[in-house]
Amino acid sequence: MNPKFWLATMFLMSRIGVLDANSRCHVTESSIGGMYLRGHVFKVHRDELPEECFFLCEEEVTCQSYNVVIGQNICELNNRTKEARPEDFIPDQRRFYMKRSRNRVPLGSIKELPAESCNEIVSSEGEQVADGKYWIYSEENSEVIEASCEESWQKINGEEPVCFGAKDNQYGSFNMTKSGRVKTMKLIHKSGSVRCNNVTISSYWGCTWTPYKDNLMTIITDANKKAILPPAEDLKAFKTPGHFDNKEHFYSLPGYHHNSIELVFRNLVNPLSVSSNQEMQIWYGQDWIDRGEEDNSGKTCVDVYAWYE
Ligand SMILES: *[C@@H]1O[C@H](CO)[C@@H](O)[C@H](O)[C@H]1NC(C)=O
Ligand SMILES: *[C@@H]1O[C@H](CO)[C@@H](O)[C@H](O)[C@H]1NC(C)=O
Ligand SMILES: *[C@@H]1O[C@H](CO)[C@@H](O)[C@H](O)[C@H]1NC(C)=O
Repeated sequence: MNPKFWLATMFLMSRIGVLDANSRCHVTESSIGGMYLRGHVFKVHRDELPEECFFLCEEEVTCQSYNVVIGQNICELNNRTKEARPEDFIPDQRRFYMKRSRNRVPLGSIKELPAESCNEIVSSEGEQVADGKYWIYSEENSEVIEASCEESWQKINGEEPVCFGAKDNQYGSFNMTKSGRVKTMKLIHKSGSVRCNNVTISSYWGCTWTPYKDNLMTIITDANKKAILPPAEDLKAFKTPGHFDNKEHFYSLPGYHHNSIELVFRNLVNPLSVSSNQEMQIWYGQDWIDRGEEDNSGKTCVDVYAWYE
């Protein structure tokens, strides 16, 4: 008798044991009948016993799970799990789904298995996934880059922070490194601060002159100076007729103030489509509208993070 066959049979029995009695044997994965993962098949094996699919999956470094077409002896090897792509896990009475239970390589941890985004890695591997470098696609299914992921956030700038001043078009600029749809972004303060006159104290993100209260003035724009985060409709002005500040250039972000270590913007209602080398800018509100900036000073330096859908 083929030892592999016996192992496979034992294996299936242990799984059935889990399904029926859910007690005696502690295996980490069990098959899910009547369901399969759609759209992530990278290899199909025909004329195989369903038990063989287990071993065929283990032979491929990128195999994350597999579908078995019942009664047709077909194994479909997937390069994703249902956790990574819950939207593609759908019913099919002719199939069952099985996650790889041994030696599964975490998504994005090797170049051969790039993830779509940092966010997909968290979906696939769970919230406790370590921060660090992961392989992701910078273009849909083509270029691969090594990205710094912190939870679902991708750090966009490299070692050097991005700095913006408070006057004379001293905006900071950075280039996106991945195409896709950005849900929101955040800035983490690294050093420096800005002032909007020579009397009131400095702020990381805004102006401490009393009328501004806790409103902030750090705006992420595209290369054409169009406000992206916060979006233009969230920006406010003082509406003093004829005064310099009657043009929208500041905003309130509940929970954040002048010296918050990080600024996490709200999710965009319509995620922003970006290309992989697209330039983006960070502006100080008064510098952005070219008004009231004469007595401004200082510079704030930040790390920039994006959350892709
Ligand atoms: C994953 O599978 C899809 C097809 O389902 C394929 O287009 C893609 O290239 C595969 N990726 C890898 C890294 O094998
Ligand atoms: C962004 O990319 C452009 C051209 O691709 C380059 O000239 C510029 O220096 C880049 N900017 C940064 C901040 O890396
Ligand atoms: C402060 O700024 C005003 C202009 O807004 C200027 O007239 C004044 O000389 C400045 N004072 C100092 C100490 O720099």
